[in-house]
Amino acid sequence: MPVCRINIKIGIMAKRDLKQAFDQHVELTDYFTGFAVKRPKSAAASLPQEDHQTGDSQTQLAEIAQQAKDCCKCGLGGTRKNSVPGEGNPHARLVFVGEAPGADEDEQGRPFVGRAGQLLDKIIAAMGLKRQDVFICNVLRCRPPDNRDPKPEEIISCMPFLKAQLSAIRPEIIVALGAHAAHTLLKSEKPIGQLRGTFHDFYFDENEAPKKLMPTYHPAYLLRNYSDENRRRVWEDMKVVVAELGLPVPKK
Ligand code: URA
Repeated sequence: MPVCRINIKIGIMAKRDLKQAFDQHVELTDYFTGFAVKRPKSAAASLPQEDHQTGDSQTQLAEIAQQAKDCCKCGLGGTRKNSVPGEGNPHARLVFVGEAPGADEDEQGRPFVGRAGQLLDKIIAAMGLKRQDVFICNVLRCRPPDNRDPKPEEIISCMPFLKAQLSAIRPEIIVALGAHAAHTLLKSEKPIGQLRGTFHDFYFDENEAPKKLMPTYHPAYLLRNYSDENRRRVWEDMKVVVAELGLPVPKK
């Protein structure tokens, strides 16, 4: 494990409002890398996705994973056992973005391998897909101690990894699992219960038509608040995703 320096700015940053800090981050990275969650310039809105694919996504993902393993940008670098970059199909049409690794993920260095992961595996199977068909990652690549919520500065530090992964894969659809993923990707503070159920536009790039983002409840929330109603809500969301992918929509 790399020796990670504690960022002395953390105390100051923690007081900052998440939205303000996030907006600032998006503006800066937009300026430097051309990646932003914002409206496209209409003339270029319908360019096919292949035109924007540079390099080999598998190689890019491997490089990003290595950088995540070496990362010490926030305090979590000093408390993790393993960083959890994410895994799956480099050409996935569908990417799931969760919140942050838990204890099992920290132990194994793999995303969604604990109880919530087992439920996610079931959801993916019910959609008629295999785990190897999709890509799975998180807003954070390191486990917050005691599974506490991600801090704004941690989300900001980790955003370049998520953006680089999504840009390398260029999925057609992103599923945001839970409020943290939905709020981070959509720059929205609306409750997940209001965001879920319909697609939202997600812009990789101002020169490209938006991709679709479906927020839904996090599998861990579903485990904690298990009811037919909540299960049905998640399943309805996933059926919309399956239909949009042009795959057979399961009957149940
Ligand atoms: N919860 C998450 O959000 N991500 C994981 O990888 C595991 C549990």
